[in-house]
Amino acid sequence: MEGLAIYPGSFDPFTSGHLDIVKRAVDIFPRLVVAVAVNVRKLPTFTVEERVAMLEETLDDMGDVEVDSFSGLLVDYAKKRKANVIVRGLRALSDFENEFQMAHMNRRLYPDLETIFMMTSQEHFYVSSQTVKEVAFFDGDVSGVVPEAVLKRLKTHNAPDGKNG
Ligand code: PNS
Repeated sequence: MEGLAIYPGSFDPFTSGHLDIVKRAVDIFPRLVVAVAVNVRKLPTFTVEERVAMLEETLDDMGDVEVDSFSGLLVDYAKKRKANVIVRGLRALSDFENEFQMAHMNRRLYPDLETIFMMTSQEHFYVSSQTVKEVAFFDGDVSGVVPEAVLKRLKTHNAPDGKNG
């Protein structure tokens, strides 16, 4: 497949479910950028710099993956990067409605951009950034559910806000 694929998200923080999507997406798309959204509608637990740093550490040995961040509309970022594909992971039915709306709105705004959905692997179906933060906040064990770079920051981070997915 030609062109650049973007895997966008809040990644607040990046989880093993996200990593699963990245690992599978690099086998399909020769050029992949994982893009952290500076999302004005959500108050993040981790700053964009922290989220980018965790991603860079985690994806360090995956040569073909770039880590970046963007603010504003995803379609504008995609135009700027000359990307033609958006990759999104789908877990349960509950993800579907929001993803469906976003994909259609993005297509309306930028018809040349295709959204491709990948089913999250079964073992990551229950993993979300929100549950990870909540469990970590109450000192529960989230090893294996987040990459090492996230685990160490979750242990030192003490300001979960309970607002992010
Ligand atoms: O990890 P998330 O929070 O599910 O990711 C959602 C994200 C960041 C992909 C989405 O909110 C987004 O694209 N934000 C950028 C602003 C934008 O383009 N909004 C219009 C979407 S229709």
